[in-house]
Amino acid sequence: MIPRFDARDFTGITDAMREAFDRDGVLVLDGLITPEDCDRLRARMDEMVEAFDPEEHRSVFSSTSQAHDQDRYFLESGHETRFFFEEEAFDEAGELTVPKHLAINKVGHAMHDTDPTFSAFTRQDAFRLAAQGLGHEDALLLQSMYIFKQPKIGGEVLCHQDGTYLRTEPESCLGFWVAIEDATEENGCLWGIPGGHKTGPLREAFRRADTGTHTWHDTLDDTPFEEDRKVPLPAPKGTVLIFGGQFPHLSAANRSDKSRHAFTLHTIDARAHYPADNWLRRPAHLPLKGFEL
Ligand code: FE2
Repeated sequence: MIPRFDARDFTGITDAMREAFDRDGVLVLDGLITPEDCDRLRARMDEMVEAFDPEEHRSVFSSTSQAHDQDRYFLESGHETRFFFEEEAFDEAGELTVPKHLAINKVGHAMHDTDPTFSAFTRQDAFRLAAQGLGHEDALLLQSMYIFKQPKIGGEVLCHQDGTYLRTEPESCLGFWVAIEDATEENGCLWGIPGGHKTGPLREAFRRADTGTHTWHDTLDDTPFEEDRKVPLPAPKGTVLIFGGQFPHLSAANRSDKSRHAFTLHTIDARAHYPADNWLRRPAHLPLKGFEL
């Protein structure tokens, strides 16, 4: 049983929270983000989707295929705001089967630096204090994503560790998963393996060649994830799940008629080495920043 903490009056990570995070690999903070802040972020994303022309930048994202790997559109998203569609949003003729605002899988990966509303949201005290309390004295904001998990067509995400995609030496990635609306088993909430961050090392590294757009997965360790031990992590609106780069997690497809909007922020410790073969590379004129601007 993973404990839940009432974080509506959050002023910092307590000993009990730290203990749960170390033991389970995930910390569940209910009410850390106010409903008003969730609504503000969602409204801003609505505007961004409205302004987006799907014909210009059609790029289907799928965690179960490598189709996007060669896609410069994806690779440049590390310092841009880019839109990725659900796999099932298109028919055989390549036409959208649902309106664009119901067809997008996610938007990423630098809104925390490119958009004032997202910057203010990610730089609120709640995240800064939580990161500090979990050992990130000098955090860098590496990646932000807005995930839609659309009704009926929201695709599944296979069991993985975020450190695969955001590697540092030593491993220091910290993920903040924010429920922008209620996430339940019905609409595809996150699942995780309690203690799974300790039952094996990082299994895979997602690498990018020095030049060009070639990317690939390297197996680092073939210890299987203990998926039979996975538990659901339902998250009412405003709840934040915090987990490190080695915590195995996944989510099922959303076959319900309810969306499941979520926002994720990933930070790394500035003191750790960030290998040059990570997929996400910032150009020199857009360096990573911390919680303080
Ligand atoms: Fe993940």
